[in-house]
Amino acid sequence: MPSFESIKKAARADGFASVLAIGRANPENFIEQSAYPDFYFRVTNSEHLVDLKKKFQRICDKTAIRKRHFVWNEELVSANPGLRTFMDKSLNVRQEVAIREIPNLGAQAATKAIQEWGQPKSRITHLIFCTTSGIDLPGADYQLTQILGLNPNIERVMLYMQGCHAGGTTLRLAKCLAESRKGARVLVVCAETTTVLIRAPSEEHQDDLVTQALFADGASALIVGADPDETANERASFVIVSTSQVLLPDSGGAIGGHLSEGGLIATLHRDVPQIVSKNVAKCLEEAFTPLGISDWNSIFWVPHPGGRAILDQVEERVGLKPEKLLVSRHILAEYGNMSSVCVHFALDEMRKRSTKEGKATTGEGLDWGVLYAFGRALRVDTVVFHSFPF
Ligand code: CAA
Repeated sequence: MPSFESIKKAARADGFASVLAIGRANPENFIEQSAYPDFYFRVTNSEHLVDLKKKFQRICDKTAIRKRHFVWNEELVSANPGLRTFMDKSLNVRQEVAIREIPNLGAQAATKAIQEWGQPKSRITHLIFCTTSGIDLPGADYQLTQILGLNPNIERVMLYMQGCHAGGTTLRLAKCLAESRKGARVLVVCAETTTVLIRAPSEEHQDDLVTQALFADGASALIVGADPDETANERASFVIVSTSQVLLPDSGGAIGGHLSEGGLIATLHRDVPQIVSKNVAKCLEEAFTPLGISDWNSIFWVPHPGGRAILDQVEERVGLKPEKLLVSRHILAEYGNMSSVCVHFALDEMRKRSTKEGKATTGEGLDWGVLYAFGRALRVDTVVFHSFPF
């Protein structure tokens, strides 16, 4: 009779979980940020709010965003008065669009990840699907398995209403699942749409202008697994060495979201950049002290590009060289804040840039790196990576 210990050891993977492929997708429809104030005030019939429009213009100008992609378009907003008023009943149409588009967008990103991975879909053993946009049963995970024709008995985790830190949360869960079973291959999919957020500007609720200026639509997908099968040409780009999640002290309510008949209303406290930046060093110390690393310029950086002011303040507080946050700034500029999706885009961009620039590793030529994703309450998911040599 084998011992429990030997049964456990035989069942588990030997090595660390790694990222084996990454795919991204955005809706075709995009709007340049410089044109957004005119567009937004026109489609919401708010041109008469002249001062509010000027304020919105000032906010958009400061976001450092060049363009954002959206599932919804002018036609949808025009056809649904609830989307062009402030907080009128509109949940049904928002849900309808999100329930249809989120699995589709996720499937586009997943198809690209599976193509890069180059293995048969039947080798996928687990699915983690995450979205903050819309809620449904049997869920976006179920729809995705149908669209992609995945094994119906795949083991699934569906995460609804998480927020931006979930780009890290999904990797934390994927690592646990991938290392817990020999041969496990976890498909991680995050998909987000602002269909749940779009609404007219309101003089009484000017904080919503920041939400309207920042968020955008997109989807990311990763294949995560341990012990890459070299005979099948599986190739890893980043080892997921460790993960953690912390709730930042005294941050209660700084980032929140409330779903109501008027859609999802986000709360973004003005102090978010300060709260995030004040706590970065502590999270880094907890993650990297065991590795003997304390020079934050000696690692590669994949922070959530939640807003320009956040990246600025993190850079200043930690004393980062300007080139450290270029990848995250690029994702913010080209796609806006896609919530949970952003850090996965940044991780993909990191390895692609490293290849293009002839760096020695997938992480800008460096060995170690950090993914730093923050979201509701405020909580932070930190992921420590080791890069791969080219
Ligand atoms: N709420 C309301 N108004 C705000 C605001 C806020 N949080 N932050 C800035 N403003 C207003 C200012 O009062 C100012 O208004 P006036 O021009 O009328 O004075 C205007 O916005 C522009 O502000 P600044 O001139 O000070 O410009 P800035 O350098 O601060 O840039 C910004 C503005 C781009 C919005 C910047 O403040 C920023 O990036 N903030 C961080 C945004 C944020 O919180 N992002 C996190 C999103 S949440 C997330 O990613 C995770 C999740 O789970 C959803």
